[in-house]
Amino acid sequence: MDDVRTDDRESRVDKVTLRKSLGDRLIGHRLLYFLTLTSTNDHARELAEDGWPEGTVVLAEEQTAGKGRAGRSWHSPPGIGLYFSIVLRPAIPPEGIPLLTLMAAVGAARGLRDNGFEGLIKWPNDLLLTGRKVGGILAESRIRPQGPPEVIVGLGLNVNHRDEDIPSELRGRAGSLRLQSGAPADRTAILTSLLIRLDEAYASFRETGEQEMLDAFLALCPMAQGRAVQVSGSGEAVSGQTAGLTATGALRVATASGLREVHVGDLSVAETPDAARG
Ligand code: BTN
Repeated sequence: MDDVRTDDRESRVDKVTLRKSLGDRLIGHRLLYFLTLTSTNDHARELAEDGWPEGTVVLAEEQTAGKGRAGRSWHSPPGIGLYFSIVLRPAIPPEGIPLLTLMAAVGAARGLRDNGFEGLIKWPNDLLLTGRKVGGILAESRIRPQGPPEVIVGLGLNVNHRDEDIPSELRGRAGSLRLQSGAPADRTAILTSLLIRLDEAYASFRETGEQEMLDAFLALCPMAQGRAVQVSGSGEAVSGQTAGLTATGALRVATASGLREVHVGDLSVAETPDAARG
């Protein structure tokens, strides 16, 4: 029975339960649900431009052109993942916009933990379970002539994926909640926790500023402090020892030529000569 694929495709998020559980929180007080969209980020951006309120959530069972960071795509098959985007208008200067990705990662990792998964973060936007990427965040922003910036925070999570649901080039590096626990997870319950924790993290960020959030991020992102790493994808690769975060969420890396602040890139644990020898 476990192999009947139509079960997954027919599985839908329970919108009524979700709406009831969210109550009148900022995030999710307007919730738009679609069976298929090209990208929830793109649709949320259009709604935001049309003046939909902050906290609007766009959720799709499937994306046909899901977007990842750095121009990558986000594989978004129906019924087994979670794909949603949130419209935010934080009253922060443009240089603070990267903090929204970190804030969302904290909220999402806490949402996973509420459901018994030891979620960790890989700076800046990956959600990990035992070293495998199960989720990612894509924040896209627009500076407006008047008013605060508009930030669309999109989150994708592999929930009930089996190995064959993961693109072959990512197998071994990507995972899912189901692959982690060995049992299918209730997507409505997971989504509810994610949105509640994202709402809480955003409220705290707005009320107390970035420091508390950065501390929470570091506690959930062990690679960001005292680890030998390489950061690639942002021009020349940077190698060194991580040394925490700046006030705008950049990663500090102590390199042979001094302290560097890395604003974007893909982080990996550096191969030590011993590790390379096996
Ligand atoms: C990454 O890790 O590269 C970020 C992945 C973000 C994927 C989500 S799925 C919902 C939202 N809509 C998109 O097109 N992308 C984000």
